[in-house]
Amino acid sequence: MKDTEAASELFQPVALATLQFERATPCDLYRRMHSGRYVFFAKKGILFDQAARQRVIDSGADTLFILEGERDLYHAYLKETLISVVADPTVTTEKKAEAVHVACLQTLHRAYEEPRAVFISQACEILEPTVQLIVTDHEATRHLIRLTSYDHSTYIHSTNVGIFSIALAKILFSGNRDHDMQALGAGFFLHDLGKCRIPIEILNKPGLLDDWEMEIVRRHVLDGYQMVEDSGLMTDEARTIILQHHERDDGRGYPYGHLAKEIHPYARICRLADVYEALTSDRPYHVCRSSVEALKFMKEHVVSGPDERLFAGFVKLFTL
Ligand SMILES: [Fe+2]
Repeated sequence: MKDTEAASELFQPVALATLQFERATPCDLYRRMHSGRYVFFAKKGILFDQAARQRVIDSGADTLFILEGERDLYHAYLKETLISVVADPTVTTEKKAEAVHVACLQTLHRAYEEPRAVFISQACEILEPTVQLIVTDHEATRHLIRLTSYDHSTYIHSTNVGIFSIALAKILFSGNRDHDMQALGAGFFLHDLGKCRIPIEILNKPGLLDDWEMEIVRRHVLDGYQMVEDSGLMTDEARTIILQHHERDDGRGYPYGHLAKEIHPYARICRLADVYEALTSDRPYHVCRSSVEALKFMKEHVVSGPDERLFAGFVKLFTL
């Protein structure tokens, strides 16, 4: 084994679970020691089999590292792997769901931390097989909904909202080819991209935000919209999801205080999923509700008018 003293920013973490399909490794792999030093683990091109995986697990880790300079090689590998796994009839639906889920979390984590066009673009590419799986495989949707986890990290929240939203869009638009589910997926999974500009102390503040802090939080929709517009990577509809997902029918939403008829149905889907996800997650300012409690709360306090049909579809997601 050779050690490297290279700075940590030269390395990018890759989840062990993304290397699970008995394929040749796309780049050299490293482990991070408790001291913070990176140690060479496996050479590019070796078959990453069960024995290699077990060595990592035995060391108590679930993450390996690649050199930042090899990021594009790894991304191409991850994308190819997902596409072939999703299309492979010999892979169980549960394994497919796990594979797209871990890849989404990892890629969205990077995009939310550093929303440069290259990372937004890579996230959109990984979302393609994910959306494809949700749209075409009923059983996989069920597994993915089970995999949504209770955590208030922005990228985990966004992955959950993306899964709920695409699953709901599938129910609502079933068989209607006018809706570009891939484009919508990008908007749903990246709806909170602008949150990367909110200081962490505000994002994680326990208790109520003051007016100034609330103003900063509210900026995330315009910031996110601007970021994806600058990147040129999303459709108008996907950008509208980002812009309108906090608008409310009574005009008390933001950024524009739109009224019901001005709010796009795609943004409504995202908002329902966003509210549900917030209610069922532990947040600094409230304790999470169960799924049943959250749906009951939404029915009584959140849903009215144009949202009622959407909400009926949303409830079905939890009886799949
Ligand atoms: Fe938001």
